[in-house]
Amino acid sequence: MTDAAFQAWMGEVQARMERALSRLLPGIHVAPARLHEAMRYAVLGGGKRVRPLLCFAAGEVTGAVPERLEIAASAVELMHAYSLVHDDLPCMDDDVLRRGRPTVHVEYDEATALLVGDALHTLAFQLLAEQRLADDPGEQLDMVKLLAIAAGSRGMAGGQSIDLASTGRTLTLPELEFMHIHKTGALIRAAVLIGAACGTALGASARAGLDRYAKAVGLAFQVVDDVLDAEASTATLGKTAGKDSRQGKPTYVSVLGVARAKALAEELREDAHAALAGLGERGARLASLADFVVLRKF
Ligand code: IPE
Ligand code: IPE
Ligand code: MG
Ligand code: MG
Ligand code: MG
Repeated sequence: MTDAAFQAWMGEVQARMERALSRLLPGIHVAPARLHEAMRYAVLGGGKRVRPLLCFAAGEVTGAVPERLEIAASAVELMHAYSLVHDDLPCMDDDVLRRGRPTVHVEYDEATALLVGDALHTLAFQLLAEQRLADDPGEQLDMVKLLAIAAGSRGMAGGQSIDLASTGRTLTLPELEFMHIHKTGALIRAAVLIGAACGTALGASARAGLDRYAKAVGLAFQVVDDVLDAEASTATLGKTAGKDSRQGKPTYVSVLGVARAKALAEELREDAHAALAGLGERGARLASLADFVVLRKF
């Protein structure tokens, strides 16, 4: 696939997601208006939409229709948006800037930010339950389970808990990998598997390949996030740069240094490509997305 074709596809999915999310979120005139306005503030008008892109690309592997994918991808993106709102709270990373704008607790207040997270989290499950997203109802229940596990104490929330407990300490490489796989990798893996589940069932080996791909991209994503925090500017990132070292967060940069962290991201990119080998042309967009995740500048 040419780079121009991939860029055009990304733009189309991002625009489609913006419309879908806007339609699926309650309007600002629906009571309680302030909460709904803050939910829309947290979700709309920003973000790379990496998880939805992965969901759509995985859905292409299984021939899923976009009408299903946009709902499934919205569920994952709402979960992600909630995780960002809570991640930025003063009791967590205490960040004032997100996606180039004041964070939700700064623009509104802390209690509202807490409730925005609660409401986005439950809306995500509502979307997965409301209409048919998989051919087999059992498969759709598996989607719900996948998202629940990915977001819970054995996934993102668990990883976030380790992150907070590790601040100001050093971690070994295996401990750091465990934290990153949970806090970020789990939801990215879920985006891929849930997208694939919207289409026709895959054979065991294709499914294993997809899972290996998703795990590699999920870990690579946070390794690159750590590198960008150290190397990119606040203006480019739309969030305060250099915070990890100031806050004493254990990251791939603090443990390995920038050069080795970048080399690891590159290895993970190669592993993601290798994992797609069995899918042939159907995996082309996923391959380009692995490149995007690792080579991105923001
Ligand atoms: C940032 O995620 C938080 C992490 C899990 C590292 P993204 O980099 O995907 O944030 P947006 O959605 O593009 O703003
Ligand atoms: C956040 O990791 C992971 C989440 C589950 C939100 P970070 O704390 O590094 O994310 P940023 O850098 O604030 O986006
Ligand atoms: Mg954090
Ligand atoms: Mg943070
Ligand atoms: Mg970060």
